[in-house]
Amino acid sequence: MALQGKTVLVTGATGFVGGALVRRLANDGADVKALARSPEKGRSLRNVPHVEIVQGDITDAERMKAVMQGCDIVFHVAAAIGGTFDFQQRANMDGVRNVMLAAADAGVKRVVHVSSIAVYGYRASGTVTEETPLNPGRVAYNRTKAEGERIVREIGEERRVPYSIVRPGMIYGPRSGAWTLLLFRLARLKPTPFLGDGGGNPAPIYIDDLIDLMLLMAEHPAAENETFNAVNDPPPTWREFLGKYSQLAGHRAWLSLPVWAAKLSAPLADLVMTLRGEPQDVPELIPYVTGKRTYSMAKARELLGWQPKTSLDEGIRQCAPWLREKGLLS
Ligand SMILES: NC(=O)c1ccc[n+]([C@@H]2O[C@H](COP(=O)([O-])OP(=O)(O)OC[C@H]3O[C@@H](n4cnc5c(N)ncnc54)[C@H](OP(=O)(O)O)[C@@H]3O)[C@@H](O)[C@H]2O)c1
Repeated sequence: MALQGKTVLVTGATGFVGGALVRRLANDGADVKALARSPEKGRSLRNVPHVEIVQGDITDAERMKAVMQGCDIVFHVAAAIGGTFDFQQRANMDGVRNVMLAAADAGVKRVVHVSSIAVYGYRASGTVTEETPLNPGRVAYNRTKAEGERIVREIGEERRVPYSIVRPGMIYGPRSGAWTLLLFRLARLKPTPFLGDGGGNPAPIYIDDLIDLMLLMAEHPAAENETFNAVNDPPPTWREFLGKYSQLAGHRAWLSLPVWAAKLSAPLADLVMTLRGEPQDVPELIPYVTGKRTYSMAKARELLGWQPKTSLDEGIRQCAPWLREKGLLS
């Protein structure tokens, strides 16, 4: 049982990944402190045994020091996923600094920090390993997540806080807003509209497989002060990934949208997002979606012996009861 009897703090406990992690840790017998910004947000975890809901915001340095007292392990999952650069900076950079400094003061044995493959940016192609230089571009999320990693390493080394950084791809599974709910809404359209023939590669990872890897990273000696991708390698194509959701919805019909038309409208969409203060590098997104790439999992396989257990078929099947609960699947 992973982390049995250890005191573990999970930030972002009210979110998709943090919530799944809290339940798994509690089930494995860890004593879990689940950070929630308000008691109302922590409601869904209230009756989970072994879980104490602690109120706090990662942008509050003093509060983070208080909640971290007595913790053996910290999973820093919380992040701002959208908004302006300043908004995301507060959570994804200042918040990370507060978490790392509090971990240093509390003598935490390891911080598992959740980053993202977004740090490689939209120009990533071919085989992307953990050694590939980061190229986050202008996108605030990508930039602030890349800076967040830098802060983890800097404080980790200066204050001798053991850390381990995970860069997940597109996390799907029950309760995933983006890569299950939104994709299923798209995939159930008959035919399913998508750019070109769908031959480019997405980077999915099933939630339970990610959590297995994070639990390993919390204790494995070879994970200390290391960074790991977290995706399925080899990757499926978009046609395969979306196609599995379409099959769940009961059809296989595909509608190819012309890539040239998307390229033509990209600069306008880019301008609109830039004027809103949320630049998105839209022209680069199109080759990103249609391009071939593999985020390599060789390092986690070799150093940690990690292998994802969930096939795409199985993972998407596991989403069905939740999609039914949401009223999207009969
Ligand atoms: N989902 C993906 O596909 C994906 C892919 C790659 C990486 N990631 C990374 O995985 C992590 C979890 O993502 P997710 O999908 O679970 O996101 P999510 O469902 O939006 O959850 C984000 C969590 O962070 C919390 N949070 C945000 N700002 C906070 C603050 N200032 N203080 C305390 N808590 C704060 C939120 O609290 P509230 O409930 O109060 O808003 C929520 O619990 C993030 O680090 C994200 O960058 C996600």
